[in-house]
Amino acid sequence: MVLRAPIRGLSAISGSADAHGRRRRLGIRKADCSVVRMAAYDVSSGGRQMFAYEEGELERPKWAGQTPLSRFVGAVISFKPLYSLLKLGARQVLISTAEKKNIPWREMTKEILESDVYKELESVQNSSIVYPDYYLNPFHAYDEGNLSWLAAAEAEAATMSMVRRAIPNASSLDEANEVMRGNWLQAIERHHLQYSETSVIRDILDVGCSIGVSTRYLAGKFPTAQVTGMDLSPYFLAVAQYKEKSCPRRNPICWIHANGEDTGLPSKSFDIVSLAAVLHECPERAIVGLMSEAFRLLRPGGTIALTDQAPKSKILQELSPALFTLLKSTEPFLDEYYLTDLEGRLKEAGFVNIQTSLTDPRHMTVTATVPQ
Ligand SMILES: C[S@@+](CC[C@H](N)C(=O)[O-])C[C@H]1O[C@@H](n2cnc3c(N)ncnc32)[C@H](O)[C@@H]1O
Repeated sequence: MVLRAPIRGLSAISGSADAHGRRRRLGIRKADCSVVRMAAYDVSSGGRQMFAYEEGELERPKWAGQTPLSRFVGAVISFKPLYSLLKLGARQVLISTAEKKNIPWREMTKEILESDVYKELESVQNSSIVYPDYYLNPFHAYDEGNLSWLAAAEAEAATMSMVRRAIPNASSLDEANEVMRGNWLQAIERHHLQYSETSVIRDILDVGCSIGVSTRYLAGKFPTAQVTGMDLSPYFLAVAQYKEKSCPRRNPICWIHANGEDTGLPSKSFDIVSLAAVLHECPERAIVGLMSEAFRLLRPGGTIALTDQAPKSKILQELSPALFTLLKSTEPFLDEYYLTDLEGRLKEAGFVNIQTSLTDPRHMTVTATVPQ
C-alpha cells in the first residue's frame, strides 16, 4: 500500500513519519521550499509508516530507458574517444568525492593490494565456472569489469561512497549505513514476519555479495542463521573471505563462486534470498534468470529481497546531466534495468505478496514470497 502525504518544510525525508524525533539523528534538513510531495510507504503490519522518502513525478528518470535524452546520452557514450574520457572522468569523480567525504579510497585500495588477499583466491575460485556474456563487459570504469584485483580492492571504498551518496545529509558513514542498510534489513524482516508461516530464518543467500558488505549486514541482523555469500567474481570473494578472517563469528559465512542464475545448490534450501545492488548491473534476461533461480532455492514461505536504484526516486530523476552521463558511462545495463518491470517479473516467476518501498532517497527494496 502506498500512501501519499504532502509534508511541509522538508526536502529530504529520512526515517519514519511516526518518528519525527529521529530526523535530526538521521540528518534531515529543513527545506527552503514550502510544500513537497513525498511518498510514505506502509510496509508494516498494523499500518505504521516506517520509511518516507520523496518520489519524483515520473515513472523513471528521463535519462534512463528509451527517451530521446537517454538515446542521446547513449550515443555520446558509444563514441569511443569520448567514452575513454568519460571513463577516466567517472573514476576521478568517484575517487575525489569519496575522499572529500573522508573515505580514504587510495589508502584502502593500497592496503588490500599489499595484503595477503591473493592467498584466498585458490580456495574460493570455482575454475569450471562459465561466465555469462554480460559479465565480461567493461564495468564501473574497469576494462575487465569485476574480474580484476583492482576492482576488488576498490570495492569497499566504492560501496562506502555509494552509501554516503544515498544518504547525503547523514553526518557520518555509520549514520548513512544505519539508515540505508537498516531500512533495507527492516523491510526484509518485516516482510518475512508478515508472510512466512514459520517466520524462522535458518538459511540466507546473498546473491551478488561482492566483497561481503551486504552479507555481513545480513549475518549481523540474523545471527542464528547460516549465511552464504555468492558472487561471480572470485576476486571479490577472495576479499570477502580475507576480511571475514579478522572478525570470526559463531556462524561463519560461507562464500561461493557461482552464477546466481544457476547456482547448483539444492532446491528449497533458503528462507531468504537477497540481491542487493545487483540487478542494475544485469540485462533483463539475467534479472529473470536470477529471480527464477531464487524461486527454486527458497522454501515455501521464503522471502526474496531485491534492493536497488529506485526509478521513482526524486533525487535520481533530478540528477544533473554531468552526473547521469558519468553514471551511464560505467553501467552498461542501466537502461535495461530501468525499463524492467521488477514486480511484474517477480509475479511471472511465481512470487506473491510483492511489496515495494523506497528504503532510502535513492533505493527501493522489493520483497516477495514463495507461496506456501
Ligand atoms: C554492486 S555489487 C553488490 C554489492 C553488495 N551486494 C552490497 O550490497 O554491498 C553487484 C555484484 O553482483 C555480482 N553479480 C552480477 N551478476 C551476478 C550473477 N549472475 N551471479 C552472481 N553475482 C553476480 C557482481 O559480481 C557484483 O559483485
